[in-house]
Amino acid sequence: MTKAIIGQSKEQFNAEGAPKGTASSDAAAVRASEEYIIETYRLRKEFGALVAVDDVSIKVRPNTIHAIIGPNGAGKTTFFNLLSGNLEPTSGRVFFKGRDITHIPLYRTAHLGIGRSFQITNIFPNLTVLENIRLACQALGRGNFQFLRHYSYFHEYEERAWAVIRQVSLTARALTPARTLPHGDQRKLELGIILAADPELLLLDEPTAGMAAEQVPELMDLIRDVHESGHKTVLLVEHNMSVVMSISDRITVMHRGQILAEGDPVEIAANEVVQNAYLGGMYGKPKAS
Ligand SMILES: Nc1ncnc2c1ncn2[C@@H]1O[C@H](COP(=O)(O)OP(=O)(O)OP(=O)(O)O)[C@@H](O)[C@H]1O
Ligand SMILES: [Mg+2]
Repeated sequence: MTKAIIGQSKEQFNAEGAPKGTASSDAAAVRASEEYIIETYRLRKEFGALVAVDDVSIKVRPNTIHAIIGPNGAGKTTFFNLLSGNLEPTSGRVFFKGRDITHIPLYRTAHLGIGRSFQITNIFPNLTVLENIRLACQALGRGNFQFLRHYSYFHEYEERAWAVIRQVSLTARALTPARTLPHGDQRKLELGIILAADPELLLLDEPTAGMAAEQVPELMDLIRDVHESGHKTVLLVEHNMSVVMSISDRITVMHRGQILAEGDPVEIAANEVVQNAYLGGMYGKPKAS
C-alpha cells in the first residue's frame, strides 16, 4: 500500500489527506496535520537488501527539542537524510507543517525552513568564521548568484552574519580561518551556518560528536538558547545520554530501522525494552516536565 501513495499529486488524495481508495483506518494515519512541524508516514529507505529505515511514522511538535537516539546503524542519519531531501525514500511520505515535501531536494527544503547539520563537520576550512557565515547568509538570501548587486545587499548580509556570530558566541574568532578553530568552535560555527538561513526546524546530527566533555555544556546551552529565544524546533540525533535526557522534551528510540519506543525523558529512562536494547544505565538526569 505504501508504494501506491508515492509520487501522487494532491488531487489524488481524499478529504482526509489519504490516497483515494485508502481504507479508513489508513486514512487517519496519513492525514498530515499542521499541528506538527514534521510528520512522516511509513517512511522507508532500502539500500539493496538492507532496510535502513523501516516504515517509520513520527510526529514532531513545533517549538520542542525532540531527540532521536539508538545504537550505531539504527538508521538515524538515514532518517535525517530523508527528512532534509539528501536521500529519496524508497516509499512513505514526509510532511513539513502539513505540506508534502517527500520528493523535495535538499536545496529546496533549506529554502522552506529546514536547516540541516551533518555528523561530520561541514565548513569551508580556508575561509574565516565571518566569511563562512556571510556566505551562508548570501546563499539563502535575496540576490544569490547575482554578482552585480547593489552594495546595500552586501551590507545586509554582513550585518546578519555578525548577528549570527554573536548568537553562537564566536565574536572573538570572527576573523580566524575556520580550519584553525578548536573542534568545539567549529561545531559552533556549523550551528551558525545553519542559523544564517533562519530555519524554523534544525536537524542536528550528533552536534557534540568529537567534542571534549567540558565543551559540551556550552554547545548545549547554545542549542537551548536558539530553541527558546528563536522559537525554533530542534530535532537532534545524539549519543550523549546525559545531554539527551537533560535537553529533550521528547525522545524517539530507533533500533534496526524501526521505532522501538517514544516518550518524554522520564518515560524513556524507565522503559524496560529500551533499557535492555540500548540504554543500560548510560543516561543522566531526565528533564523535568
Ligand atoms: N549510502 C548507503 N549505502 C548503503 N548502506 C548504507 C548507506 N547509508 C547507510 N547505510 C547503512 O544503513 C544503516 C543505517 O545507517 P545510519 O548511518 O543511518 O545509522 P545511524 O543510526 O546514523 O548510525 P550511527 O549512530 O553510527 O551514526 C547501516 O547499516 C548503514 O551501514
Ligand atoms: Mg549517524
